Amino acid sequence: MAILKDDTSYTHVIAIDFGTGASGYGIAPMLVEAGQKPRIEVFNPCDDLDDQKTSTAILFDDEGNFLAFGTHALQRYAEILDDEESALLFQSYKMHLLHMDENAVSLDARELPLMKVISESLKYIADKAVEKLTEQIGKVINSKIRWVLTVPALWGEDHKQFMRKAAMNAGIIDSLNSPNLLLSLEPEGASIQCREDAEENIRNSLDKDKIVMVLDCGGGTVDITVHKLMCEPEENFLCEEFLPSSGGCEWGSKYVDAHFEKFLEKLFGEELYADYKRNALARLEILKHFEMLKRKFNPGKEERSRLQLSYLGDDLSSSRLKELIEEWNSNIPDPLIQLKKRGASGIDIPPTLMKSFFEPLFEKITEKVNELMQESVSSKGEEINFIFMVGGFSESPYLKAVIKETFEREDLHILVPRRPQVSVIRGACLFGINPRSITSRISKKTYGINTLTTFDPEKHPEEKKVIIEGEEFCEDVFDAFVKKDHSVGIDEVHVKTYCPVRARQTVMRIIFYCTEQEDVLFIDDEHVEQLGELSIDIGRPFQSVEDKTVKVTLVFGATNISATATNFEGTELRNCDFKFESS
Ligand SMILES: Nc1ncnc2c1ncn2[C@@H]1O[C@H](COP(=O)(O)OP(=O)(O)OP(=O)(O)O)[C@@H](O)[C@H]1O
Ligand SMILES: [Mg+2]
Repeated sequence: MAILKDDTSYTHVIAIDFGTGASGYGIAPMLVEAGQKPRIEVFNPCDDLDDQKTSTAILFDDEGNFLAFGTHALQRYAEILDDEESALLFQSYKMHLLHMDENAVSLDARELPLMKVISESLKYIADKAVEKLTEQIGKVINSKIRWVLTVPALWGEDHKQFMRKAAMNAGIIDSLNSPNLLLSLEPEGASIQCREDAEENIRNSLDKDKIVMVLDCGGGTVDITVHKLMCEPEENFLCEEFLPSSGGCEWGSKYVDAHFEKFLEKLFGEELYADYKRNALARLEILKHFEMLKRKFNPGKEERSRLQLSYLGDDLSSSRLKELIEEWNSNIPDPLIQLKKRGASGIDIPPTLMKSFFEPLFEKITEKVNELMQESVSSKGEEINFIFMVGGFSESPYLKAVIKETFEREDLHILVPRRPQVSVIRGACLFGINPRSITSRISKKTYGINTLTTFDPEKHPEEKKVIIEGEEFCEDVFDAFVKKDHSVGIDEVHVKTYCPVRARQTVMRIIFYCTEQEDVLFIDDEHVEQLGELSIDIGRPFQSVEDKTVKVTLVFGATNISATATNFEGTELRNCDFKFESS
């Protein structure tokens, strides 16, 4: 894990927000002058003059060599296709990581290892950030940079480990557990940012003990955290996690596009839809056009969503489009979903149909928010006071209206910062400046190790009985260090001491496990997963058992968990190789 180096060893924070739909970076000096706000600058990696994120897209040539990233990748790809050449364009590949897929799939259905695709993306952004900082301050010394990489709060330890490795392959850090890299949970950073950038009157109402929910509505995920503020408005930010983070990995804005494409599939029929998918350039253009319609869609206000399909060229003639629309309208008699042809190759998508692309996502989001509001009262007896909406999807007038309509009350305020899409980057910079502002989190799993205990026939099943040197033991016992849903302080150290059962034993093997259950008896129970192991020398065969004790420590760090075992002589084994990557 990253043990926090003294903050004064760093001069700058560089935060990278690698998003499903868009990516960017921010730079902030570590030093914040008394009474001043941190100076955070956000940059578009593809355009120095812009302070928004760029599209997350990466282009490789047919041999797998990196060509371009972001909007450059999209432009270059269009040119390559125009020249009737080929290349591999990847988009939305962060979603592959959710399923721990080995490979990312390009727009034309070819594959490259996901690790390569992600680490090349990070490398591009990191190189741009260092270039920018060099321009600002002259020579940049990497050891003086605290890197922060944002990850969805919903992700597990294995995903986080993957990102650390990708950052190492990108040359950002030189070892996997380098303290120079912190992972920041996306909505958590945003929670810091929302207070920091809030207007005076809002900030003044964000006082101690207020409960704040952050909805990070991004391209792929909607990530939700609920915090309790531990600080008064004029004090430095401090909070604890109030409910475990939750949300949905497939509820983001990209899935509006997915529902739109399902509609196209129905309208086009199998053959034309196959042509559409094959014609990568036309597909990109149509999706770009739809993106524009999606962003401004605001039922009740902006009614017209006119889609241009001319990009399909000869694949879709004007007369063929007319036939398709007639077919659609005769199959779907609902007058609210009837299509109208506009010009040679345009169609008007009626608001009810547009709404149907968003609704399945909104249902999930509102249901979850409702559930969390109830849980807050039922399990903790406290109401949520604020909902902050961040992430690009929170710019949607439709989503904002639905959340406000459903949840806003006199004592529950819904706030959307001015530029919600960059909240995560700004928040990650603030987290980098002061990682200790989050004091505790709620453990999503139960963590423990395997042990033997004295056999108790009342408690233990007979098949777990083993006899060692004449004594009866129960084997495979799950000894929990931390239980699911329990609050764990940041950098909280959990220590337990174990002694060997056999006098002749010279090595102790400690195996770490985790489970989603709160209570678990045995390591071979259902849903228990092995994380990793440590084997430590414990002395000579005939030394007394008391002299062979081993201290096992689990530290729940700022964003990772680490394990150590220390024997009687003080030899320490650090950070066993938890097999995060394999799951
Ligand atoms: N007005 C809008 N309406 C709907 N969606 C929008 C709007 N503006 C931006 N988006 C969507 O927001 C997404 C980008 O937002 P953001 O940068 O927060 O997501 P991300 O960080 O890429 O995704 P994630 O956090 O899920 O990995 C894009 O998918 C874009 O389509
Ligand atoms: Mg995001």
